[in-house]
Amino acid sequence: MINFRKTAQFDQDATVLILEKIQVRQKKLPAEIDLKTKEQIAAVYESGQFSGDKNELFPLATSSGLILLAGIGARSDTSPTAFRIMVKAALQSRYLCNKENIEVVPNDIKDEYVNALIEAIMIGTYQWQKYKTNGSIGVRYDQKHYYVIATRKKSHEQVQGICAGTNLARDLVNDNADLVTSTYLEKVIKKLIKGRKHITLEVLGKKELKAHGLNLHLAVNQGSRQEPKLVIVKYAGSSKKKGYTAIVGKGMTFDTGGLNLKPTGHIETMKLDMGGAAAVIGTLKSTIEIDLKKNILFVCGLAENVTGSSAYKPGDVLTSYSGKTVEVANTDAEGRLVLADAISYVIKNYAPERLVDVATLTGACIVALGFNYTGLVTTDETMANQLLRYGKETDDRVWRLPMYPELSESVKSMIADIRNLGVPKGAGGTITAAEFLRQFADNTRWAHLDIAGTAFVDNGKRFYFGHGATGAGVRLLTRFLQNT
Ligand code: BES
Ligand code: MN
Ligand code: ZN
Repeated sequence: MINFRKTAQFDQDATVLILEKIQVRQKKLPAEIDLKTKEQIAAVYESGQFSGDKNELFPLATSSGLILLAGIGARSDTSPTAFRIMVKAALQSRYLCNKENIEVVPNDIKDEYVNALIEAIMIGTYQWQKYKTNGSIGVRYDQKHYYVIATRKKSHEQVQGICAGTNLARDLVNDNADLVTSTYLEKVIKKLIKGRKHITLEVLGKKELKAHGLNLHLAVNQGSRQEPKLVIVKYAGSSKKKGYTAIVGKGMTFDTGGLNLKPTGHIETMKLDMGGAAAVIGTLKSTIEIDLKKNILFVCGLAENVTGSSAYKPGDVLTSYSGKTVEVANTDAEGRLVLADAISYVIKNYAPERLVDVATLTGACIVALGFNYTGLVTTDETMANQLLRYGKETDDRVWRLPMYPELSESVKSMIADIRNLGVPKGAGGTITAAEFLRQFADNTRWAHLDIAGTAFVDNGKRFYFGHGATGAGVRLLTRFLQNT
């Protein structure tokens, strides 16, 4: 929990005092610090124990309790990203792990950095500990009370709402695939929108998907005991007669690869494959929390791609909702199948002004961009520029890959209208997948976000995220919906 305060009070179990190098040297400290403590800080500086350098921490025992001095170096030498990493490290340090009530005092920093500070608290200290019987209790932000000195409460509360959406997405991705099924996600969505008059819901279950002919979606789920679902939330936030923006998420609650089974080393993290739907649900939460006055369609294509005697078969030709026939060249290229039907259904029945899909779609995106940038593919220059800009601003980073007319050759089939695997295999996997989707988006303004690399941290460190889901897409999409 975060509470905002106008001035520092040093009345909690501990205080984190964030200091720039120059502030330490020039003794520019918050006015509320008493003289004795000021002298103590000057003394540890003069004795060389703390200089305000990047990542420096010094626990100072004072008459008003523990003050953790946290250095962030020179202003010219830091960035909001580096700042979040430093604050996260301070908050998760051994000095604070058993403290429940923590005051955080940034010393004279810009609003942008106060917002980064809130993200450091909410996103940075998030840890997935549901199944740890002996988890390090109390390090999660929601188990602690943070008192943050900040002046622009409204703006900071918005950041809080967006972080809450981000963390919801992370919870959904992190939990077991056998728990987070299509039915479970439907319940999560229903709970979020319950009692809100401007929000309506359409859910297509197996029966409705059959009746409407969403055969690609059905085929992908064919081997599963779980029900396939297409969930569409209509959020009428604007009173003006404005068009809708659709955001469509891939919600593969588990991806075994199907009969083209994934090998060991690739299958273990595939609970992440509903990361796109999680991003959509997280963005729905953010949207509700900050009360966005926009018209939005939140869409989740939910299915499970498993093997078995009833699983769909490589080589078969399916007829999509749009009427286009599709050759299933590989059952592991399932995401584009579910998305294709979802995209054409939403366009036909809701006629959105523009559509952004978000999906853990291709391993090739990881090859191309690694883990720190979401892949963006679009034919719409305006949306490209907007998404690139908001990716930078929110630190939910995006890098654009090309889309060009000749790409349509790569998804041509000998036996159907289109094929779910690009040729030659392995070449431009991310953009051939995007080309497949583009052909179902028709003339609607469309952009595609491939979060295969960014949705999940499996090994190693990434920015201020811990192990597991990152909530990739939530901050980006919320800002995009808010500002455009
Ligand atoms: N869900 C995967 C993509 C993925 C891979 C996400 C690694 C996150 C990490 C997707 O359904 C998939 O299997 N894609 C195949 C496509 C191929 C068969 C054309 C891939 O990337 O190998
Ligand atoms: Mn797959
Ligand atoms: Zn997949």
